[in-house]
Amino acid sequence: MPNASTFLDMKRRGEKIVVVTAYDAPTARIEAEAGVDIILVGDSVGVNVLGYAHEREVTLADMAHHIAAVRRGAPEIYIIGDLPYATYDTPQQAIESSRLLREAGANCVKFEGARVEIMRALTAAGFDVCSHLGLESQHHDVKRRQGKTAQAAAKLYDDALALDAAGQKFVVLELVPQELAARITQAIGAPTIGIGAGAATDGQVLVVNDLAGITAREFKHNRRYGAVGAALREAVEAYARDVRAGHFPAEEHAFHMADDERFAFERAAGLKPLR
Ligand code: KIV
Repeated sequence: MPNASTFLDMKRRGEKIVVVTAYDAPTARIEAEAGVDIILVGDSVGVNVLGYAHEREVTLADMAHHIAAVRRGAPEIYIIGDLPYATYDTPQQAIESSRLLREAGANCVKFEGARVEIMRALTAAGFDVCSHLGLESQHHDVKRRQGKTAQAAAKLYDDALALDAAGQKFVVLELVPQELAARITQAIGAPTIGIGAGAATDGQVLVVNDLAGITAREFKHNRRYGAVGAALREAVEAYARDVRAGHFPAEEHAFHMADDERFAFERAAGLKPLR
């Protein structure tokens, strides 16, 4: 199983790190077979799978449940699991929450924001930790681009350096300008994983529902590599048509009783043999 140094070495060699979200076992299995480097079980599970209106509704129990499913589907993959909103308010709470995610199968925990004291506490407690800077879905009310002004960029840059000094193993940079992401990538030791942060980061992450074409919305940062949503809708529509028309199930989908068993059953039930 890879560990954090595997990805540090990739950064040093200039090899891109491929990260994608998964929330269930079959998707995780397919992603592992497809050769991704890391699976992120993000709190995006809330809006993408659980039907919640906001990432803030995701609980630790939700995360543990989905991390465990992903681990069953991809036993050898390195998993980063999100600490949900308000589960890392204090160092002690962050450690307890991270233990739950580790027990569920996460190799690394991720939290949002420049919480250097949380990073220090978690790394001292032996956790691999990924920070998440730029757009923080858990904390920003409006999902918009970050770090566009010199002042905002300088703050994010300093935050990334401080979290690096505190021991982060990765940082996710979300919706920040490419120039800023490039500077952070050069300045810090840990691999940067970008989403909507341009091509200069050490790795990229996309939400599987977005890249596979399950999500209805289009995002500037995303590229659709499939039309899984449309393919699923067509498959279910075809099934419904066949059931209604009596075309499914067909003879090859059924199985039959042996004649002697059928006669015995009919006799026992007092049924007249069918003509
Ligand atoms: O929850 C998630 O899927 C994430 C990605 C957007 C990076 O944090």
